[in-house]
Amino acid sequence: MKRVLITGASSGIGLQLARDYAADSWQVVACGRDREKLQRALAGTDSEFCVFDMQNRGECQAVLSAVVEPDLVILNAGTCEYVDDARHFDAALFERVIAANLIGTANCIAPLIGRIRAGGRLALVSSSVTFLPLTRSEAYGASKAGLDYLARTLAIDLAHHDIGISLIRPGFVDTPLTRKNDFPMPGRVSMAEASQAIRQGLARGKREICFPFAFITVMRLLSWLPRGIWFRLGQKMVGRPS
Ligand SMILES: NC(=O)c1ccc[n+]([C@@H]2O[C@H](COP(=O)([O-])OP(=O)(O)OC[C@H]3O[C@@H](n4cnc5c(N)ncnc54)[C@H](OP(=O)(O)O)[C@@H]3O)[C@@H](O)[C@H]2O)c1
Repeated sequence: MKRVLITGASSGIGLQLARDYAADSWQVVACGRDREKLQRALAGTDSEFCVFDMQNRGECQAVLSAVVEPDLVILNAGTCEYVDDARHFDAALFERVIAANLIGTANCIAPLIGRIRAGGRLALVSSSVTFLPLTRSEAYGASKAGLDYLARTLAIDLAHHDIGISLIRPGFVDTPLTRKNDFPMPGRVSMAEASQAIRQGLARGKREICFPFAFITVMRLLSWLPRGIWFRLGQKMVGRPS
């Protein structure tokens, strides 16, 4: 039986992935910060649970260095906070988002990378936000841009060790995280659609998994515009101070 380890498996995209892999007869190792939340969310599956805060390097090391070798690791856990007032830049917010999304992912990679079975795969969940600089996304975008670079360099350095790397860049997905957003989310897809796109891409060994197609195509086209043109378009999205 193939084994998949998923972080952020208590909610949203990670939970849907855990349920779908379990239904597809994979042994799921579901990770989160709250054991009861994980157990409730994945009741009815025979998932194993790993409980740790990925911002705590010691906890990550202790818990993840004891897991049975997985074939697939999906480092999906993450958070999003927007910068509401760039003139009063909140360095503590910036640190929180980088610590969770970027450092937290690194804390998981360290104990896991040597445990992935030969021929296995490590996937990092980034975001389509990194196609373009978007208003209020200073912290979230920087954390995900860091993940993009991390994934692309790991892909080069681990190719000789028979470990594949996939970078996952979703558009908007309807999850508890995005239900808090107060702005339009074009092309938003369901968690089931997101899970299907991710599982299909991973099964095909894709290096980058971007979805949904129409939204990503628009983001790609906009990212090819000269920077000055995007600067003017991007400014139109900025809320004016009241
Ligand atoms: N939803 C979207 O539109 C979208 C688009 C692009 C990228 N993404 C990315 O997809 C990933 C999942 O997002 P989602 O929308 O599914 O969010 P979500 O429903 O809020 O789920 C986030 C998950 O991450 C876990 N997590 C957060 N901080 C953690 C920490 N310090 N240690 C351990 N686990 C932690 C949460 O665990 P707890 O239950 O313990 O809080 C939860 O399981 C994120 O990396 C997000 O940036 C989402």
